[in-house]
Amino acid sequence: MQVSVIVLAAGQGTRMNSDLPKVLHHVAAAPLLHHAMRASASLQPDRTIVVVGHGAEGVTKAALDENPDAHIVVQSERLGTGHAVRQALPALEGFSGKVIVLYGDTPFITPETLEKLAVSTADVTVLGFHTDSRPQRYGRLVMEGDALVRIVEYKDATEAERAITLINSGVVACDAAVLAELVSGLTNTNAAGEYYLTDIPAAARKRGLTATAVTCPEAETLGIDTRASLAEAEAAFQSRARADALENGVTLTAPETVFFALDTHIGRDAVIGPNVLFGPGVTVESGAEIKGFCHLEGCHISRGATVGPFARLRPGAELAEDVHVGNFVEIKNSILDEGVKVGHLTYIGDADVGEHTNIGAGTVTCNYDGVMKHRTTIGKRVFIGSDTMLVAPVTVGDGALTGSGSVITEDVPAEAVAIGRARQVTKPGLATKLFEKLRAIKAAKKGA
Ligand code: UD1
Repeated sequence: MQVSVIVLAAGQGTRMNSDLPKVLHHVAAAPLLHHAMRASASLQPDRTIVVVGHGAEGVTKAALDENPDAHIVVQSERLGTGHAVRQALPALEGFSGKVIVLYGDTPFITPETLEKLAVSTADVTVLGFHTDSRPQRYGRLVMEGDALVRIVEYKDATEAERAITLINSGVVACDAAVLAELVSGLTNTNAAGEYYLTDIPAAARKRGLTATAVTCPEAETLGIDTRASLAEAEAAFQSRARADALENGVTLTAPETVFFALDTHIGRDAVIGPNVLFGPGVTVESGAEIKGFCHLEGCHISRGATVGPFARLRPGAELAEDVHVGNFVEIKNSILDEGVKVGHLTYIGDADVGEHTNIGAGTVTCNYDGVMKHRTTIGKRVFIGSDTMLVAPVTVGDGALTGSGSVITEDVPAEAVAIGRARQVTKPGLATKLFEKLRAIKAAKKGA
């Protein structure tokens, strides 16, 4: 069965009290919109259509970042979920198969649930969940056995209907041709004066078509509409991600203090210490160790590498096997080959470092001249003395050594020693004379 997906993301999210469109707020270091899009990607949809409106420019960019092939459709007036789907119909031209409508502000729908919708044989299938909490925001699914008779919005419901405990998640699956016909026939004669997508099950039955509901756990349908629900979603994501990591054979010494991103990959037998934050795009291979208080994003840590405590790996940091990055070290856009050691208080940016090179404490790759960035190339088995400033662009050849405290502005050939610092001057006995002089000045000041 061919599937296409429509993600509704035109709403403003007034209750977020924010200048940022709701779907661009982050959970697990990714915009809410990416969560729904990523779950639906598992269906390998023929088309992914994202309906944008409020903050269209930013939402479009986020959608295309996640899926460059997504079709973007603009809903210029927010006249309801049915109206939003209607705007997407031209983008479905020529597609035959099932269409699943998702919400950009509902991040936790799972691929398994989407699969259930994709294989349903009814003409219209709605995703529902059971709850006893009588939520006011949600529509109720009115069932007769397995048949979905209609969905009634809370605002339009009678007391008896409000007591129904099977709730509309908002997600709908429908044959493409049927969807086009039903959505085009929607009217807005309801309490909100909106074109409700939720009217299509009843409309389907009127035409002699079938409508049904499938269910999923309530947690999957958590929709974000306030900062509080955003925080709740973050907490829910993190507790699931921690449980998954433990289940997959990762040691977390203090799980509740580790924060994952949507796309974090951690191999079996990796060890993660306390207070570690994973931003987007991090892979930690099996057996690597991240000690406490590290901040990692956009980086790759290979087997046997150790990082931290208190290290920061920024985008483009590539650590090969058995690399050691120690405390108060920052690495950005740099490749550290096998066995490199950067133990203490160092900045490595825009650099290539050859295998088994040792970088002394306090080393800085001076990669920015105030206008442009430049690269530093350090060969294999090099010894960079403590407090070396490597003024890029600069190359240090294999097996070379730089003296501590050097400012290296010229290339260093392989196996050479480079010392770039002022010569030491030593004056015997001068310290004693100097102290005497200073004490005399102090005493004279006191007497005055
Ligand atoms: C909707 C359902 C309700 C369900 C609930 C679950 C309708 C009429 N009601 O209500 O039965 O229980 O979801 O969360 O569908 N959107 C647009 N364009 C619009 C209107 C909405 O793109 O013109 C998008 C919003 O950005 C949002 C989603 O559709 O992502 C849901 O819209 P919203 O107005 O919040 O619907 P609910 O009131 O939550």
